[in-house]
Amino acid sequence: MQQKIRYNNLSNVAELRKIVRAFYKKNARPLPWRENTDPYWVMVSEIMLQQTQVSRGLVKFPEFISKFPTLASLAQATTPEVLAAWQGLGYNRRALFLKRTAELIVAHHAGEVPRDIETLKRFPGIGPNTAASILAFAYNIPNAFIETNVRTVFLHHFFAGEENISDAQLMPLIAEALDRVHPREWYWALMDYGTHLKKQHKNPSRRSRHHTVQTKFEGSLRQIRGKILKILLIEDDLTTEELATRADRELRQTQRAIDQLVDEKFLYANDGRYSLVK
Ligand code: ADE
Repeated sequence: MQQKIRYNNLSNVAELRKIVRAFYKKNARPLPWRENTDPYWVMVSEIMLQQTQVSRGLVKFPEFISKFPTLASLAQATTPEVLAAWQGLGYNRRALFLKRTAELIVAHHAGEVPRDIETLKRFPGIGPNTAASILAFAYNIPNAFIETNVRTVFLHHFFAGEENISDAQLMPLIAEALDRVHPREWYWALMDYGTHLKKQHKNPSRRSRHHTVQTKFEGSLRQIRGKILKILLIEDDLTTEELATRADRELRQTQRAIDQLVDEKFLYANDGRYSLVK
């Protein structure tokens, strides 16, 4: 369905550009992943920031980069080393995806982060939005994409007071507003402005059809998965019973978490004992 572009509050695209640029001029955030537009830095930070608060990233990103300063060093690292560096960021699968992506880039792209969305999208953990964000920040290549802060800006300016707005409604506006000459700075500015709006207004993203609240961590399968990985980083080759005891969880839930981790190739089983895939 072709959506008609609506300017249903005082704002229009040209005005939004002015507001965003003026805001950024005064309030640009000095973020560590913006100090260097090395495509590898960009790829790490975009994957890290997918489901992680910027405040966490501020601590973990420099640590991660100092442990794995180049794409080749990440490709060569072992899975336990990468998982250890990812501790505290959650959603550990992203660490594994990132490492596999580094391996694929070394093996098939001469170690250089590809410059097109179609190739980037084939890597694990990289969807169309992350692919487009990597292109904008690494190579200054313009593509419309949406992420949480961008969504906030467009909901706030074009859909004030409306509920259940879909990303498909926002995308034509995002494409229209995109600075095709300076996409890198444009998206930095949009993200900073979106963060600012979230502080000013009670999270505008709740009016998005795609708004989700992270599920409760305490007692969750996600938590026990994290615990199991942490335990196995220190002590390998454990049974379900031993893992359940160390994680202080029931056997059945422990087994479910283990089965998932085996399916996702974080762990391998050897005669009823589990270890991290190296
Ligand atoms: N700067 C560059 N990428 C970013 C992101 N994903 N979130 C916040 N700031 C960023």
